[in-house]
Amino acid sequence: MSEGKIWMDGSLVDWDNAKIHVLTHALHYATGVFEGVRCYKTVNGSAIFRLGDHIQRLMDSGRAYFMEMGYSKEQLERAAIDTVRANGMDECYIRPIAYYGYGKMGVNPLPNKVSVSIAVWKWDEYLKGGAEKGARLMVSAWARIDHRTLPMHAKATANYANSALARMEALKSGFDEAVMLNTSGMVVEASAENIFLVKGGALVTPPTSSGALGGITRDSILTLAKDRGISFEVRDISRDELYMADEVFLSGTAAEVKPVGEIDNRTIGDAGRVGPVTKKVKEVFEAAAHGKDEKFSKMWLTPIN
Ligand SMILES: Cc1ncc(COP(=O)(O)O)c(C=O)c1O
Repeated sequence: MSEGKIWMDGSLVDWDNAKIHVLTHALHYATGVFEGVRCYKTVNGSAIFRLGDHIQRLMDSGRAYFMEMGYSKEQLERAAIDTVRANGMDECYIRPIAYYGYGKMGVNPLPNKVSVSIAVWKWDEYLKGGAEKGARLMVSAWARIDHRTLPMHAKATANYANSALARMEALKSGFDEAVMLNTSGMVVEASAENIFLVKGGALVTPPTSSGALGGITRDSILTLAKDRGISFEVRDISRDELYMADEVFLSGTAAEVKPVGEIDNRTIGDAGRVGPVTKKVKEVFEAAAHGKDEKFSKMWLTPIN
């Protein structure tokens, strides 16, 4: 990961020169907002999945932190396309970030300029647990921060200290990923993915009011489920419901649709084998992302060329 170009405040710079000052406000006070987007190799060439929705979420996240981005939504979409093109990749992960930069120290970021950058890299398997086995999860002892503490609809760097603690706890305990509960003890999401369970053929996922991020993959899955006649419910989930689910999977841009085989050492569903509904959801999601679903690929894909 040391080649290629990174877009920084309007210019494409060499990977190794994409540097910022050590007194950057966001480094000290977590005053940044970011996105994770994917570009897929599709049947009609490379295309970015739901680019407009990701850039809109970035702008919305910035609003919660009074950020003046200095770029329109269209300019940032263009910048993402230019960065992918400049790196000559047909498939990649795209990381736009906006943050309060170097200037005045102290908690108030407002005197500092907001900088924006976009990097891309190859990121194949974000979460361990192969397609057949599924990931092993543990419920974290760290409660998910909630709307009283931070704007949870914002994909802000500040939220990720909480995620990182849970993820490290899970990895050091020998698991692949953490499930986080909110301060009311209900299931929210994993450290960087939304969560779904399947019971009696229907999908269930917690509402964003639980503290879960309004995931774009989550939204795509619910939209595709509606279209394909897979029933679903958006409601609170308790920890023990996860143990008794027929199937559980995670969703996110980095992790995509990730089957879960085990939670807190309890096997999920049929001996941890990936269940039929998860398989179906994965299949329809991948078809849409790879340009094989006429209706949704057209709506959701932005071609690179
Ligand atoms: C905390 C958290 N929840 C959920 C998600 C999934 O969101 P999306 O599908 O938009 O990537 C992510 C990843 O962005 C995340 O970091």
